[in-house]
Amino acid sequence: MILTNLQLKNFRNYDSLDLSFNKKINIFIGNNAQGKTNILESIYVLSLTKSHRTNKDPYLIKKDSLFTKIIGTINDNDNNTKYEVLINENGKRVSINDKPLKKVSEYLSKINAIMFCPDDLEIIKGSPQERRSFFNISISGFNNDYVRYLNEYNKILRTRNEYLKNYEIINKDYLDVLTNKLIDLNIYIYNERKKYVETINKYLSNIYNDITGKTNIVLKYDSFIEDEDNLRNQLEDKFNMVYNNELFQKVTLLGIHKDDFSIFIDDVKINNYGSQGQHRIAVLCLKLSEIKIYEEEYNKKPILLLDDIFSELDTTKKSNIIKFIKNDLQVFITSTDLNNIDKIILKQADVYKIDNGKVVEGE
Ligand SMILES: Nc1ncnc2c1ncn2[C@@H]1O[C@H](COP(=O)(O)OP(=O)(O)OP(=O)(O)O)[C@@H](O)[C@H]1O
Ligand SMILES: [Mg+2]
Repeated sequence: MILTNLQLKNFRNYDSLDLSFNKKINIFIGNNAQGKTNILESIYVLSLTKSHRTNKDPYLIKKDSLFTKIIGTINDNDNNTKYEVLINENGKRVSINDKPLKKVSEYLSKINAIMFCPDDLEIIKGSPQERRSFFNISISGFNNDYVRYLNEYNKILRTRNEYLKNYEIINKDYLDVLTNKLIDLNIYIYNERKKYVETINKYLSNIYNDITGKTNIVLKYDSFIEDEDNLRNQLEDKFNMVYNNELFQKVTLLGIHKDDFSIFIDDVKINNYGSQGQHRIAVLCLKLSEIKIYEEEYNKKPILLLDDIFSELDTTKKSNIIKFIKNDLQVFITSTDLNNIDKIILKQADVYKIDNGKVVEGE
């Protein structure tokens, strides 16, 4: 999958931008705060319709403008497709080949992009919510049904919570209807997450071995569901058991919205106990596994977005990323200093110099 052209209108500090890319390596170079990450962010938004660094879409709109628009042409298996994301104060609209789509969910899972950035450490040491969000996005990349079921889950969860919160007298039959819907969705999402964790674990230890020479690394899925026997009855029982508590606390107490994921290295859970270096390796291994899954299980080549990561990685980790880049993936890299970037990469790269929201060299 190749992003051949990117057009921005009023995105962050860009008035307008129209760039065509080579299918291998594209490097954005420039001083701090000039707009390098903004370009990677725009590609991420083109893929997922939201940013990797803010939940607030209006921040993406250039100051004093009314809207922002990102248009990208993706070449996949020799087919060109035009994708467009438009954000204004009323929300966002997406279209494919100039055809507007009713739901954002129909747009997702088509452009596969994987971002590596300094904030990634939060996936390991941050809150469970950050980990859930990471895995939700990862699974969504492969599975569009997951996106739809997750949206549906969140909608019903909100309705159920509002009902518990706002009504003094609870109609048990109505609550049961909501609970039953939630149970079905819990089962689907649990199964998909479990499958994904198993698939990651197929690759994780080999990748970890390449980087460290050791193999003992495992991703674990910590769910409120403990065993798989008779899931539906099990969940009905669980909800019955917390029923009085839910009435008292006025909130849904069970569900996959509370799940978590942990990484064990040498049998120690590193989320709370690991060193900075272990966190960095773990997150790198997770993302490299994600690439492997795209390649091996789905025969797809994701676009890699590497934001300012070469300055902090040691040589082994760098060379592992380079190994993946050599696998014919299209890569976008930002850096303040070309000296941080390996010569092998530079040889195959187009370099764009970014200055104050403009490409000043390399166009
Ligand atoms: N909505 C916006 N409107 C106008 N300018 C914005 C907006 N959002 C961010 N900026 C500007 O974009 C610039 C930051 O861009 P970006 O994060 O891409 O920098 P960078 O080149 O990656 O820098 P660094 O090397 O420090 O990571 C800042 O000057 C910031 O003020
Ligand atoms: Mg940056």
